[in-house]
Amino acid sequence: MEESATLRIGSENYNFPLIKGTESEIAVDLRTLRSESSCITFDDGYGNTGSCESKVTFIDGEKGILRYRGYPIEQLAEKSNFLESAFALLYGELPSENQLNSFRKKISDNAGLRENMAKGLHSFAPDAHPMAVLSAMVNNLGTYHPEKSTNDRKRDLEAFDDTAALLISAIRTIAARDYRNRKGLAPIPSDPSLGYCADFLQMTFGDSNNPQPPPQKVCEALNLVFLLHADHEQNCSTSTCRMVASGGANVFASVSAAIGALWGPLHGGANMAVIKMLKDIHDSGDDGSRFIEDAKNGKKRLMGFGHRVYKNYDPRAKILNVACNDALEELGVSSPILDIARHLEEVALSDEYFIQRKLYPNVDFYSGILLEAIGFPLNMFTVIFAIGRLPGWLSHWKEIAESGSKIHRPRQVYQGATVRDYVSIEER
Ligand code: CMC
Repeated sequence: MEESATLRIGSENYNFPLIKGTESEIAVDLRTLRSESSCITFDDGYGNTGSCESKVTFIDGEKGILRYRGYPIEQLAEKSNFLESAFALLYGELPSENQLNSFRKKISDNAGLRENMAKGLHSFAPDAHPMAVLSAMVNNLGTYHPEKSTNDRKRDLEAFDDTAALLISAIRTIAARDYRNRKGLAPIPSDPSLGYCADFLQMTFGDSNNPQPPPQKVCEALNLVFLLHADHEQNCSTSTCRMVASGGANVFASVSAAIGALWGPLHGGANMAVIKMLKDIHDSGDDGSRFIEDAKNGKKRLMGFGHRVYKNYDPRAKILNVACNDALEELGVSSPILDIARHLEEVALSDEYFIQRKLYPNVDFYSGILLEAIGFPLNMFTVIFAIGRLPGWLSHWKEIAESGSKIHRPRQVYQGATVRDYVSIEER
């Protein structure tokens, strides 16, 4: 194969080297395009733009492949757990037993919130969205750890192991405390003898007078949701994290921005939107068929369907679909909205509109259903996604900081007014 690509602009030919990825992906390296030709590339939505070289996660959307650090998601879902996979994402390799134990310990040691931090949780409007609270509190957490949020890459990198453990732990505590504050419930302290998910569930839903470990099946289901969300290469929130990090910002600021990006309904907010959609369909007396028609003629969007990268199936959805069925059976949950979900899935998968556009259920279609069954309120679904995605954001922050990457600064094609003279207000 040729080692370079030629681009003809007008009568000029320009040669650009090719970059080959370890999974045989080819990219045309256009870094010198503007200086050589004064042209830039235009790729609205970045669907064809490689923004970086990364070693964290591999996706082949055509084949439905997802691997963290080379490990297939199916194997991790079956044999690993969230914290072990998080370690692999952060450090590139699966941990030894000792490494995993000390990683776990560091995480459980960091579960508490400083008193003023905890008080800060009461400063938000009573109906503030939990994602707004989470994003603000993550940045706030950084202010309590100035030695970890210096905006000096070298120093922030030196503190990275502690920062990562702190954030992975405290994000749960913030989410659980925020949930209980809204319900007027007293906080439940972390119990380090419980696993990551069990401790989180207890801090969230536990009875302070009668603490009981949460059911094993529920812990396993949540663990799987976290693991399946842990990274997804250059998605909107991860790209945001990397963009902020590229300017030299510390981990807390970069993760806080990523949480803001995740909030949107076309990204992490889709799991909430799925349940809202299913409830609306149910309340309108439709079994889903009318909604499908509306989605086909562009009046509605079938939330939890379609993906920018997966054009075959979303491997996470395949795994979660099975786990979702098992967990619902175990929990004895049956609900009319679940029937609607199954009907939508069946109809959409056999409908030409969805087949032609390669629209399949994505991970959020099933995670919403599962989180609802576990008992999380709708407005907390995206918070759960954020807790799961945190190891990914952290890994990408680390990668960009270690690579010494340049500040990210895209160009634009200006389409506004050309030069004109200022007109005084009286003459307008
Ligand atoms: N329902 C109905 N039609 C759709 C849908 C959908 N969910 N998704 C895409 N289409 C149609 C779209 O109207 C367009 O049709 P046409 O070619 O006739 O104009 C075609 O499919 C291509 O759509 P697109 O919007 O250009 O595709 P995209 O790659 O820009 O968008 C997406 C990807 C995920 C934003 C989109 O599929 C969507 O809005 N899905 C629903 C929201 C959702 O579930 N998001 C979660 C994604 S998974 C979690 C994550 O990674 O964040």
